[in-house]
Parts: sequence; C-alpha cells; structure tokens
Amino acid sequence: MSNTPDQPPPSLVKIPGRESDNRRSFFAITAAVVTGSIAVLTPIGVGIAAFLTPLFRKSKSPEVRIALLDQVPDDGMPRYFPVVADREDAWTRYPAQRVGAVYLVRKPGKEKPTAFTAKCPHAGCFIGYTPGSKVFQCPCHTSAFNLDGSRVNGDAEVAPRGMDTLPVSIRQAKTGDGNSIAEVWVEFIDFQTGHKEKIPTA
Ligand code: FES
Repeated sequence: MSNTPDQPPPSLVKIPGRESDNRRSFFAITAAVVTGSIAVLTPIGVGIAAFLTPLFRKSKSPEVRIALLDQVPDDGMPRYFPVVADREDAWTRYPAQRVGAVYLVRKPGKEKPTAFTAKCPHAGCFIGYTPGSKVFQCPCHTSAFNLDGSRVNGDAEVAPRGMDTLPVSIRQAKTGDGNSIAEVWVEFIDFQTGHKEKIPTA
C-alpha cells in the first residue's frame, strides 16, 4: 500500500512515548557509567595520592640533643660534636644516623652556646678546627673563619658567607637519681651551599 502525499513514510512516523523512553534510557546508561567510573576511580585516586604524598611532604629539620651543657665550658673555645638523628626519605625511616656535626662555642658568662654547622657554606666540605687555634679552617679551598663564624678575609674568601649558625635551646632533663641536668639541643637545619644568604635545603 502506498503513502498518500501528505502522509510521512512509516520510518518517520513518531510513535507516542517511544522518544521519551529512549531519552530516559540514554540518561540511565550515562548515569550508570558515571557512577561506575567514580566508584572504580575514587579508590585508585586515593591510593595514588597516599603513595605520592611523602614525596611532597616538607621534611622538618630535626631537633637534636647535642651535649650536656657541662660539656661546653664558657671559655669561648669551639667544641666539636657529631649530630645523630633519625633520617627519613620519602618512604623509609633510618633511625640514629650520623647526619652531620656542629661546633658549640660558649662565650664567658653566657649560659647558651652558639652552634655552628661544620658544613662549609662554599661547597659543603667539613670545616676543621684544631684545639687552641683562633680560626676554623676548611681544607678544600682554604676558607678560614673566625671563632664567631665570620670569614677571616671577608669577601676575599672563596666561601660566600660565614659559618651557618643553628637555633639552640637549653632543656632540663632528669637524671636516674632524680636530679635535673641541662642539655643543649640544636635544630639541625641543612643550608644550601654557594649562596651569600642562608637558604635551607628543604
Ligand atoms: S668547600 Fe670549604 S672552601 Fe670550598
């Protein structure tokens, strides 16, 4: 049977209700896909974030007990102490590692010593000190520092700045017999080398 000129072909005939059914199923499928994706991807995203977080965590400089205050006489002469602290990279913790060294200098009549890191601000070599000497000496490129940490020859030294000082605190601790004893604690900050300014590495 042929269509009359004012009748649309059968394929173009709109069947009441079918169009809205199609739209409903399209939205239902889309919603199911989106919900399923969220359900699958969320735990994966959380897992990846938890795995990567340590990489972006700003590491804090350790506060380290360096010595008893009695071990640092107030005679203005440098005393050398190794720095032992827990070290950690992004995922692993290494307990009780030697992370550097400091010199404590306690001026006459002062309770709190000054702490200098033994790392040379030029290129990071270990700064040496000979007991009784009036200067610290870096063996790598012969920079010399006065006992207050300043450079002996100012800008003529290859080191771009004086020795780096570290924050010091005095804390009271209890001994086994219940007495109080003063300890020297230092915030062991690592500074970048080669700059005029003190810039922490982390
Ligand atoms: S590393 Fe100390 S002077 Fe160069």
